[in-house]
Amino acid sequence: MVVYTDKESLTPFILSKKNNSKKIGFVPTMGALHKGHLSLVKTALDQNDVVVVSIYVNPTQFDNLKDLENYPRIPVKDQQFLEQLSGDIVLYVPDNKDIYGRAVDSMNFRFDGLEHQMEGAHRDGHFDGVGTILTLLFEIVQPDMAYFGEKDFQQLQIVRKLVEKNSIPVQIIGCPIVRENNGLAMSSRNKRLSKKEFKEAAFIYETLSEVRSKFSSTSINKLKLLVKERFLHHDYLKLEYFEIANESTLVPAIRKRKDNKYRAFIAVHCGEVRLIDNVALP
Ligand code: PAF
Repeated sequence: MVVYTDKESLTPFILSKKNNSKKIGFVPTMGALHKGHLSLVKTALDQNDVVVVSIYVNPTQFDNLKDLENYPRIPVKDQQFLEQLSGDIVLYVPDNKDIYGRAVDSMNFRFDGLEHQMEGAHRDGHFDGVGTILTLLFEIVQPDMAYFGEKDFQQLQIVRKLVEKNSIPVQIIGCPIVRENNGLAMSSRNKRLSKKEFKEAAFIYETLSEVRSKFSSTSINKLKLLVKERFLHHDYLKLEYFEIANESTLVPAIRKRKDNKYRAFIAVHCGEVRLIDNVALP
């Protein structure tokens, strides 16, 4: 596997592929790779001539220094994980200086209101950080297609808006959530859960599944109360938010309207670890 640690050496490689009309697929990650990432990389390998995976824990998208410090970092394992999948993957592992130069700062973005909902309301500056890093990475990697998991569904919609508003010539592909056997959505943060917490966290998807099965017959208000009630006395899980929102605007819904597509979104604290998940509603 070829590994690039700076854009100066990656750029000539990218340009040579582009000059030969090779299609470049890109999977940006923050490492601590799991089967969810694997499915993104596999899809990218199927659809492109060259696949670049980046591993970079982007400081500007963290609103909490402790969360940034505790974010799992397992670079050797990550590389082995990718090597097992395909020796053809190109790995880009920049440092802060390569990405940001001297000032590790965010740019400011407007995403037509998508940024104010849910994660945006609970994580100050998060989507400015995501918009910044992806703008920079897209400039460096110049991908034809870029792959994002639906676990971060709000991020996926924001990335779509980012490329649309800034005319970035990349096709954004959303890929389905991959789940653990107990239903918990795969996430790098799961690595920080104790065995007991991991088991208890299955309750998140159990609750979302219940919401999905009751959605057609129950009002949104009642569903919200039901979820609140479920978490109220849970020993391990603390509910941060639960919303049923329009899939494209992400505006929380009060009443169901025909022809609108909805999703249920949830954020939960399990000990020190913050987990998010979502499901499409029928
Ligand atoms: O989803 C992630 O892992 C990150 O937000 C991303 C897209 C790699 C940007 O840092």
